[in-house]
Amino acid sequence: MRPSVLVIFFSAMLCLSSALAAQSKPPTTKSKPPAAQAKSTVVDAEGHQWWQHAVFYEIYPRSFADSNNDGIGDLPGISSKLDYLKWLGVDAIWITPCYPSPQVDFGYDVSDYENIDPMYGTLSDFDQLESDAQEHGIHIIMDLVVNHTSDQHKWFIDSRSSRTSKHRDWYIWHDGKGPGQPPNNWISVFGGSSWQFDPRTNQYYYHRYYPQQPDLNWRNPAVKDAMFDVSRWWYDRGVAGFRLDAVDTLFEDPELRDNPVLPGTNVYGDPNEENKYTLNLPELHDVLKGLRKIADKYDAVLIGETWTRNLDQLNRYYGQNGDELQMPMDFLFTKVNKLSPSEFRNQIAAVNSASGWPVYVIGNHDIERSYTRYGDSKHNDAIAKVIAGLYLTLRGTPILYYGEEIGIEQNDPQFKKDVKDPIGKLGWPNEKGRDGERTPMQWDDTLNAGFSRTRPWLPVSGNYRTHNVLSEQKDSNSILLFYQQLLSLRHTNEALLDGDYVALNEDDANVMSYLRRYKDKAVLVVLNMSAEPQKAGFNLAPQGFSASAATTLLTTMPELQSSANLSQMTLAPFTVYIGELTRAATQARAENR
Ligand code: NOJ
Repeated sequence: MRPSVLVIFFSAMLCLSSALAAQSKPPTTKSKPPAAQAKSTVVDAEGHQWWQHAVFYEIYPRSFADSNNDGIGDLPGISSKLDYLKWLGVDAIWITPCYPSPQVDFGYDVSDYENIDPMYGTLSDFDQLESDAQEHGIHIIMDLVVNHTSDQHKWFIDSRSSRTSKHRDWYIWHDGKGPGQPPNNWISVFGGSSWQFDPRTNQYYYHRYYPQQPDLNWRNPAVKDAMFDVSRWWYDRGVAGFRLDAVDTLFEDPELRDNPVLPGTNVYGDPNEENKYTLNLPELHDVLKGLRKIADKYDAVLIGETWTRNLDQLNRYYGQNGDELQMPMDFLFTKVNKLSPSEFRNQIAAVNSASGWPVYVIGNHDIERSYTRYGDSKHNDAIAKVIAGLYLTLRGTPILYYGEEIGIEQNDPQFKKDVKDPIGKLGWPNEKGRDGERTPMQWDDTLNAGFSRTRPWLPVSGNYRTHNVLSEQKDSNSILLFYQQLLSLRHTNEALLDGDYVALNEDDANVMSYLRRYKDKAVLVVLNMSAEPQKAGFNLAPQGFSASAATTLLTTMPELQSSANLSQMTLAPFTVYIGELTRAATQARAENR
């Protein structure tokens, strides 16, 4: 099936469902934004900012909590779960797009940047959420879709209306090479040519993603001004920052040169290409600098969806003078799909040597659930704790994905007819789409996992009877309580907040271990990433710690509940040990002399 036919079909279906959902909620009104809140900047002796000590949590609003029982999550649903998030140890929530949208790409096709889609509620609901979140000490991060709009956005509707319209040059229009031939060979990430012919004006427009997501022309200063204003508008409403969607795709080659063709084809059957002229063009850094200047005025934070291939690219996103993104996401972990201490060590060393603060992510709404990705089907809960024990104790800010803390498993559709994500229809069966990682949050073991009293837009994952918030809160051995205890530790332990990362026993193929060292204190983290028992020993005198034992802070091994002997630790399969070391006062004095 042609991609355009497919997505138009989905668009129509989803428009209908959003229209139905809208009937059950009052119409959205634009009301006066509350005054911007000043947020305190520096939070510790190291000069760290609030976001460096914060734990971020991604919420996919369709799937988090459904307050009006229409099968789709909403903003009042999120408000109702703030107590839970606070208890868990969350400081900031990133809400993926909840603006008005035809929902072709489930919100990443925005038709109005300054409003809330009726399926999620109203602007008043947003203001209520903002004020409830503030009461809970939780910041709100919105998702700014900068690369493209929906084809239903008024800018595009005007743009396509005539070659001389006011907004014509807000998008990328071009003549074809010849009859029926697009301007060049550029391929859409979501399949097929990235050029869509529009018979109204006999030209093609460029879309990196679905045809219903035309790319904005960032070479036009009016586009920049308009999007910068959008960011101000939300800051004035109280948001603490943005996650910037698809920032690496903002610019394309103005000469429209063909991308080099690589061998083979992708899951959609298109020729593979090197994105030489469509990705990571240097011009995007000026845009990031501009957005950052505005963010700084509001003490806000910019997180980037930054798929980097190497350290150099990552460093560029921080900006040569630290004047671009504070938090370019490091997706390197998401590419290590197995428990491999050596690969993790390499990734961490690389990110630690970057010019800015590390940001760790193990899952999101586009990536297979970490519980399934790392799991071996036998020890999945233990493995989920090992992964948490790793990325929540590193130097840097973690961004959790909702449900990861309870071990939601991947739930890919079994039949093509059940797929909601258009790329899953197009790429079936090689590409099943992203439904599997977007299933409803599992609140309890009742029907629909307590997410909604109606059938949810996606079926809940199979493990909801055992893996849900209510049951896990009662189980001292659960993944959830492990997360909660670990996050509480990370909020209060100076070495975990501010300490250096020092890799230990780097030749060990099974046990990953390291210190987080801060002044006279250190936290030792030891993770058995194998299915076999392992032994590990530590001589930490070179790091300034000559004690023979560590005092346990948190562990999954009952026998090490109070302390661990450093010269020889025996670790059961897939286990976590986190202990504290303190330098004796005499030792510290001697070293300071
Ligand atoms: C990245 C988002 O995470 C993804 O869900 C979306 O489809 C694309 N950007 C296009 O906006």
